[in-house]
Amino acid sequence: MTPYTLLVSLHILLIVTWLGMDIGLFTSSFWVRNSKLSPETRLAMGRFGGLMDMGPRSSLVLMLGVGILLSYYGGWALGWLPQPVIWLIIALLLVWLWAIWQQYLAVHDASAGHDIGRRVVFMRQFRTFDMYLRLAIAMVMIGLGVASFFNLLGQTYGWLNTKFILFGIILLNGVAIRFVSDDFPIALGEIVRLGSTPEREQRLNRALSRAYPFVLFLWSLIVVLLVLGVTKPF
Ligand code: HEM
Repeated sequence: MTPYTLLVSLHILLIVTWLGMDIGLFTSSFWVRNSKLSPETRLAMGRFGGLMDMGPRSSLVLMLGVGILLSYYGGWALGWLPQPVIWLIIALLLVWLWAIWQQYLAVHDASAGHDIGRRVVFMRQFRTFDMYLRLAIAMVMIGLGVASFFNLLGQTYGWLNTKFILFGIILLNGVAIRFVSDDFPIALGEIVRLGSTPEREQRLNRALSRAYPFVLFLWSLIVVLLVLGVTKPF
């Protein structure tokens, strides 16, 4: 057993926390949409979904960090970067992960009616920053993958270049999910506070059902990345 094989194991474990918890989130959405259930039950399922959502959100950041370490120390890619830069990227990814959890805790506390004080920054400014950060990382990943295919970054492997590009697409897909389901917390909040109306139910349903195709696309991309990692076909 070496640190590298432990990293490979962590890389595989992250698929479970990503895909597994995302399936939990997806399933909980059917309870949230069920207007026959009491608003309290639907709110509780919504909160459960919020917690499940932290699986994919955390796994994405960790998967990127572990993937970068595997690429570098396995000699697969990124060898042109100095080692301190790799560790700086890992440190920044950990700060990003910490901020994502701060955002979750701030939203959770605010919805429970607690004062969130200065953490309000994570509900407003950080949300926008996080979106642009995802877009920027997506562009970098796609750019690295494409540049590698054109042999601009030394010796690389086609399967890993493809993984870089597809991971960029996963990030873009995540931003799209956030856009199309933006109305979801507002609609659920109104149903719980003001009661169910056909208009509110329709708003909630629309926000969730518009996200489903993107979610299924995300799952298939994860499977493709998994198969590419295992088979390393080209
Ligand atoms: C959803 C995202 C991802 C999934 C599901 C995934 C899955 C996998 C799997 C199953 C393996 C095979 C592990 C084994 O040898 O048994 C693997 C290998 C690998 N992955 Fe990923 N991966 C993902 C993202 C990434 C990213 C973003 C990078 C790079 C930044 C990356 C870099 C690597 C490398 C370098 C290996 C080769 C490890 C080795 O065999 O020595 N992966 N991946």
